Amino acid sequence: MAASIHFRAGCEMRQYKWMTSTPPMHARLIDGKAIAQSLKLEVRGAIEALVAAGARRPGLAVVLVGNNPASEVYVRNKRRSCEEVGVVSVAHDLPASATEAELLALLRRLNYEPTIDGILVQLPLPPHISGRAVIEAVDPAKDVDGLHPYNLGRLAQREPLLRACTPYGVIKMLQHIGVAPSGMRAVVVGASSIVGRPMALELLLAGATTTVCHTRTRDLAAEVARAELLVVAAGKPQMVLGAWIRPESVVIDIGIHRTADNKLVGDVEFAAAAARAAWITPVPGGVGPMTIATLLSNTLEASVRRQGLKSAD
Ligand code: GUN
Repeated sequence: MAASIHFRAGCEMRQYKWMTSTPPMHARLIDGKAIAQSLKLEVRGAIEALVAAGARRPGLAVVLVGNNPASEVYVRNKRRSCEEVGVVSVAHDLPASATEAELLALLRRLNYEPTIDGILVQLPLPPHISGRAVIEAVDPAKDVDGLHPYNLGRLAQREPLLRACTPYGVIKMLQHIGVAPSGMRAVVVGASSIVGRPMALELLLAGATTTVCHTRTRDLAAEVARAELLVVAAGKPQMVLGAWIRPESVVIDIGIHRTADNKLVGDVEFAAAAARAAWITPVPGGVGPMTIATLLSNTLEASVRRQGLKSAD
């Protein structure tokens, strides 16, 4: 009797362990950190060649308003990366009490500052400042964030100039691993102006059959299950379940969140998704580093155009 109880307890234990253990990893990891590092080396090499040929070193103004802790970390990383590649970064830190008029006046000055090639205003802004007014106040030729309606319009019309950093970073990542979106069934989860919408335009430009899901999408699981190429920028921790992932798909997770037990997770349930997908981005070390590397490459691009070293299209 005692033996049989012991046996049953052992079975339950094994079953419990099976149900809660991490499913085996099937996907290959897309190492955004390494891809970003090679892009940064390229940018650094190009900048040193320009400077050696007598051109001016590219300059980036990085504007931070207030003290959102996540924004402070992002801005610190951006400034440090500028140093790594030889971009001159100029810091403008405004207090949370700064008015919209003060910020717009700063942007007007930066638009006219000859040594500044790129202007980045870290988002989100305090609620009393209109993000729209700020984005539109940046000279499109210096809009290294690629968020000005002119630059988004150029992308929508298939003639991109400066392209939004995160979506363009994803495209570069796909190129690096040899995944061509052309003809693929792509699904973007999230329709924000900074990521989801420009991401959909990038995928459309790259020839993917593109669906955008958002808060009113009726059956998200069914849409995700159809995706050969899935890009998630929903802003909700682990909301895309691994069981929804189409086998052998490519999964790009743009989300990053800190959990109560101090772990970083994305918008996708990673382990279960990695058991099904062919390729997947880790969080951290996936899309995040690519966003910064693309910002630097955009700054170089803007500088080259502004210095007349390449004709504007
Ligand atoms: N905050 C989160 N993502 C971004 C981005 O791509 N650009 C800017 N300026 N702010 C952000």
